[in-house]
Amino acid sequence: MNSVSKPVTVTTLMRMKANGEKIVALTAYDYPFARLVEDAGLHLMLVGDSLGMVVQGLTSTLPVTMEEMVYHTRMVARGAGHAMVLGDMPFMSYQTSISEAVGNAGRFLKESGAAGVKLEGGAAVCDRIRAMTEAGIPVQAHIGLTPQSVHQMGGFRVQRDEERLLADAIAVEAAGAFSVVLEGIPAPIAAKITTQLKIPTIGIGAGPHCDGQILVLHDMLGLNDRHQPKFVKQYARLGDLAREALRQYAADVQNGAFPGPEHCY
Ligand code: KIV
Repeated sequence: MNSVSKPVTVTTLMRMKANGEKIVALTAYDYPFARLVEDAGLHLMLVGDSLGMVVQGLTSTLPVTMEEMVYHTRMVARGAGHAMVLGDMPFMSYQTSISEAVGNAGRFLKESGAAGVKLEGGAAVCDRIRAMTEAGIPVQAHIGLTPQSVHQMGGFRVQRDEERLLADAIAVEAAGAFSVVLEGIPAPIAAKITTQLKIPTIGIGAGPHCDGQILVLHDMLGLNDRHQPKFVKQYARLGDLAREALRQYAADVQNGAFPGPEHCY
């Protein structure tokens, strides 16, 4: 990928949209995987609060804390080079007040080395987006299927209210967001939003016409054996590989094949 010779910034992403060059993003949660994502030349690493589900084994993202997000973002930022690292604002880190929202967003930049933050919500969180942007913090918005609202949505459901989705997208752009994640939205609606916005849209379950795509790392690498949404494409089966390696190790220890002479001092 040719846009990653210099560190990726909000300006790079705007230019990529203008040039019709797709933005490639993934989540990352720790140093070794951040190294791999970086080596593959991806543009954006999001330390998603999805870590609650794919790393911590929770059934939703709601219990994830700011401390945990800062901890994971720090590890990812150490492994990233050119890719832009974003920290995901966890549930209740920005909903209670604007000042708490700006303070918590600032922690990602001050304490973890992220270059920006992401938060869920459309028109309802525009005052937060505006305040963070005014404080110099790049903000990526996230509309459509917003997992922190799982109880309000009645489950992880595709969102189809075109009028509301368009209004949310236009509102977050006007509030200063530099990009917006479109999750769980019919492809024609995501295409319409992408055409109407100047800022790049990053799709996940939103079809092929977004300016970029993101997936959850553990889903696409086959490290998550829970139910996978329709939009996930699995590019590897690392879970199966790891299971086989672990069985082999156990067998080797039990039958005396490991350690061999070459492993001894
Ligand atoms: O938490 C997360 O990983 C996300 C992405 C899937 C967009 O919000």
